[in-house]
Amino acid sequence: MIAIPSPLSPVSTPSPFSPLRIGPLTLRNRLIKSATNEGMTSGGMPSQLLVKLHESIAAGGAAMTTVAYCAVSADGRTFVDQAQLDATTLAPFRALAEAVHRQGAAACAQITHGGCFTFLPELSTRRPLSASGGFNKVGLMSDRFFKQAMTESDMDAAVRQFVQAARAAREAGFDAVEIHMGHGYLLSQFLSPLYNHRRDVYGGSPEKRARFPARVLRAVLDEVGRDMAVLCKIGVTEGVKGGGTAEDAARIARVLEAEGAHMLVLSGGMNVESVWQLFGSPMPAEARANVSNPIVRCAMSLQKFTEPKFDGFREMYFLEHSRKVREAVRMPLAYLGGVRSLANIELAMQEGFEAVAMARAGVRSWLCREATLGAGAALGLHVVQPLRGDDVHAGRYVVCAASAERCRAEPAARRLTD
Ligand SMILES: Cc1cc2nc3c(=O)[nH]c(=O)nc-3n(C[C@H](O)[C@H](O)[C@H](O)COP(=O)(O)O)c2cc1C
Repeated sequence: MIAIPSPLSPVSTPSPFSPLRIGPLTLRNRLIKSATNEGMTSGGMPSQLLVKLHESIAAGGAAMTTVAYCAVSADGRTFVDQAQLDATTLAPFRALAEAVHRQGAAACAQITHGGCFTFLPELSTRRPLSASGGFNKVGLMSDRFFKQAMTESDMDAAVRQFVQAARAAREAGFDAVEIHMGHGYLLSQFLSPLYNHRRDVYGGSPEKRARFPARVLRAVLDEVGRDMAVLCKIGVTEGVKGGGTAEDAARIARVLEAEGAHMLVLSGGMNVESVWQLFGSPMPAEARANVSNPIVRCAMSLQKFTEPKFDGFREMYFLEHSRKVREAVRMPLAYLGGVRSLANIELAMQEGFEAVAMARAGVRSWLCREATLGAGAALGLHVVQPLRGDDVHAGRYVVCAASAERCRAEPAARRLTD
């Protein structure tokens, strides 16, 4: 096993407000705004509001802001209104990257393919693609009851699409791309034992399941890795029986480290099977009850029985799992999950994580006045969706643990107190 310096040693613990190098990129501090599908790309076009939102996050002190779900192809979208990162969206994405740069932060594009997690009315294939074929659980909600296993040529095409999206991100002026390998989208369908039942070189052990995602990473690195930071978002646990574990995640992280990823963002949970794991909190009963489709309502009620018992919202809910990944690799890692205070951020640093990614806390605290309305409305949209709940709100607030003196000295700390 690789020796990791004692995480609690004060000498080795960097300030969260110190710069961090990831690949060719130097971040001004270690606070990253994690992707939150903002619903501001109506008709597939990034809106002015999206530009403003990310500019505000940058102005609030984040080192890097992540633009959620930039689809690598039309079929790679989950919903019709998501943006594809290509020539058609270059101009608004360029405006976004420029706005973020004006505020001194870096911009990251999350590049994603949904695989069988799709609600599109039309696809270019008869069935949505995934690691393996057969019954498609999410089809209960999307009326696409079966999925199709990807062939070698499907995989080659997907690799090209990720490369094309990364190239477009560079052209638009983004500083980084985050390859989405978590939450049940295409690449995590390969990583997950729940979805990947292949008997070829892409299925079986965690290393084999990581082979296709690693191919995507290699190709993206070859294309843009000298100019941009290339991150991967992976799950540290899928949270359900038979799903990926922290031990799997540690082995997958080693594969991605060997392939040359510049940083891993550690998340967890799956959109369909374990959304409570993703958010560290249960789905509220009323959210389940409000679903109009009776089959989905029934499926969600049954899902309730697979949920663990919760004692309210737990801060730092991925810490135990993420530690296992920390022990396995030396590469930069961003801790994510239930970070609500400066004390949480400092704990993540002490535990040996180089950066902290925040979604809900950041949305609350990094917004300037003018963007609050739009972002609030967009978040409202998400919150009323059945997969979000009250405890999503509970995770949104940052309580400051910094002294008043420190807040004066470090503007980003001050923002966290707002
Ligand atoms: C409204 C909302 C939308 C989200 N959309 C995305 C997304 O598009 N891509 C993604 O990787 N994660 C998405 N997430 C998950 C967050 O990035 C993060 O993994 C999760 O909220 C846990 O971090 P937190 O405790 O700091 O909020 C979303 C979260 C929220 C609250």
